[in-house]
Amino acid sequence: MKISGTGSVLPKKIVTNDMLAQFLDTSDEWIRTRTGVVSRHVISDERLEDMAIEAARKALDDAGMKAEELDFIICSNVVNEYVTPQLSCIIQGGIGATCPCMDINCACAGFIHALEIAESFYRAERVKNVLIVCAEEPTRMTDWSDRRTCVLFGDGAGAAVLTPGDNIKSIKLSASSATDKLWQYRLLQPTPYIEKEEEDVPLQMKGQDVFKFAVKAASKDISRVLDEAGVGADQVDHYMLHQANIRIINAIQEYLEQPKEKFPTNIEDHGNSSSSCCPILLDECKKKGLLKRGDIIAMSAFGAGFVSGAVLFEW
Ligand code: UT7
Repeated sequence: MKISGTGSVLPKKIVTNDMLAQFLDTSDEWIRTRTGVVSRHVISDERLEDMAIEAARKALDDAGMKAEELDFIICSNVVNEYVTPQLSCIIQGGIGATCPCMDINCACAGFIHALEIAESFYRAERVKNVLIVCAEEPTRMTDWSDRRTCVLFGDGAGAAVLTPGDNIKSIKLSASSATDKLWQYRLLQPTPYIEKEEEDVPLQMKGQDVFKFAVKAASKDISRVLDEAGVGADQVDHYMLHQANIRIINAIQEYLEQPKEKFPTNIEDHGNSSSSCCPILLDECKKKGLLKRGDIIAMSAFGAGFVSGAVLFEW
């Protein structure tokens, strides 16, 4: 398969570090130097499903494709206001598609997981045109009085349209259960039979453990896809990494011994928008004219679970 169209949508409300410092014991200096985030887009009056539909429409327009031509839709999402139906069905109706669809929750690594699922459908010759939409609102998961988490995230939706091709050189996924490092509980409806204690707990994170996992997993995943494809790190034109912390990106860059220019970022303006980071970054790089036909791109993401993955593809 190959990526034939991209699209992205961000909420209009921009929240700067200084705005956060008005109600949190934090500072622009701390957030900027420890994370690389300067501002983020935060959902206010938007609905995530509308953003997802708009990102999908943009990707279809970019690919010159009609929704009726789609054979499959995969939506990556951690939370949204609906428990059911799945977001992919809402997107299907919103764009006027008729194909099957599914949601996945692979946290921040959702785009790479969706690509791997799609690739297996292509290998089985089950599909021609596939839409992936990553739509995330992590700012609705955090406690906004917890300076350790809420400063990190932003919301957004990113989409990609896939068509037949042989541009994917290698994809690797991995998982390593660590459920006490990055987690959230939600309270379900009570029943007359519930006897256990339940809690509603916003996103909790052991930041340093996640940081170490991220650097190790991304370095390993990228090395694995390079090895499998027989491509040297020097031959990669762009490393598009999950935008969780600029220091994580810098550590992976040093491990790979590649120049900074090969690592485009948008964490400065967006923060971490979970699985949406990768497709939004790809769309923005495309719009800025950074990508040339034939460029080799290594993309990598990691997240709660832990899960991680990397993909190597030709643009
Ligand atoms: O998509 C995957 C999701 N998450 C990640 O990838 C996150 C990975 N982890 C990280 O990015 C970093 O661990 C953080 C940015 C979360 C934290 O940075 P750190 O350098 O690991 O800081 P720390 O947790 O060791 O905290 C250092 C100090 C602490 O104060 P004390 O105990 O030394 O007095 C924190 O309380 O910084 C304090 N702190 C803050 N201070 C000002 C934590 N958050 C803030 C804040 N403003 N927002």
